[in-house]
Amino acid sequence: MKKILVTGARGQIGSELVTKLRSQYGTDQVIATDIREANDEGPFEVLDVTNPEQFFSVAKKYEVDTVMHLAALLSATAESNPKRAWDINMGGLMNALEVSRELELQFFTPSSIGAFGPTTPKDQTPQDTLQRPTTMYGVNKVAGELLCDYYHERFGVDTRGVRFPGLISYVAPPGGGTTDYAVEIYYEALKQQKYTSYIAEGTYMDMMYMPDALQAIIDLMESDPAKLVHRNAFNIAAISAAPEDFAAAIQKHIPDFQIDYEVDPVRQKIADSWPNSIDATAATVEWGFKANYDIAAMTKDMLEKIKQSEPAKS
Ligand code: SER
Repeated sequence: MKKILVTGARGQIGSELVTKLRSQYGTDQVIATDIREANDEGPFEVLDVTNPEQFFSVAKKYEVDTVMHLAALLSATAESNPKRAWDINMGGLMNALEVSRELELQFFTPSSIGAFGPTTPKDQTPQDTLQRPTTMYGVNKVAGELLCDYYHERFGVDTRGVRFPGLISYVAPPGGGTTDYAVEIYYEALKQQKYTSYIAEGTYMDMMYMPDALQAIIDLMESDPAKLVHRNAFNIAAISAAPEDFAAAIQKHIPDFQIDYEVDPVRQKIADSWPNSIDATAATVEWGFKANYDIAAMTKDMLEKIKQSEPAKS
């Protein structure tokens, strides 16, 4: 039976991953942790991932066999405070890996399209390619991928990871990411039928609907290790889109929806350094990765779900 400790459980991924894991493995089998207090339906502990003693003590207390380490700063926040990003993203990861090594736990942490840089091939970016990111977040992600592979090679820790595209969801908002516009646009479409995008028209990035992202984590963690040629971290992909593609998909449901642009140079520079689209063949071949949502299916579901969760307007 799995017993999973999730860090960053109140974040964009964690909020939904904990619910999904609990429905699959049982409420008490999933220990949600976050630096922020929460009223949780299952086991919850406050955990600052940069504190190694606290990390060990929570993992031991619940006798977990798996760590899913999600706590991290996203790209734009990391750019505004690079030293803090290093401390949290790398310090937290190192503590999570040490706990996993010493307690012999299975380990997952996400990498990102941010692990690529301006010199990476931009279209159908291959699994194994040039990775010279120009952001602190990207530097953290590449170092993290290498560190996770190192812990596997050197200590036999069962480390696994995916490179997430921009994730789109309606439960918890992302915070401080470059791809956040692709979430905001849906809320604004419903609120005021218009959206001002901080990312320029024609800027393609890879995106994915949260249900596909959560399923990818579970499928990778349950996959047969003998079949894994790669580990940290797999390209996965669903939707390659620019702001105008989201606008067009939304207009099918809200015909009056309008988009305009007020480009934020910091986030635009980050976006320009990332791939347009990703080749996920290795994930498909090695553990059967599959995405179910394209932009049309995701848009329909996002708009319905946000409407359901917001009080009806008079
Ligand atoms: N969504 C993330 C960001 O924009 C990328 O991993 O920072």
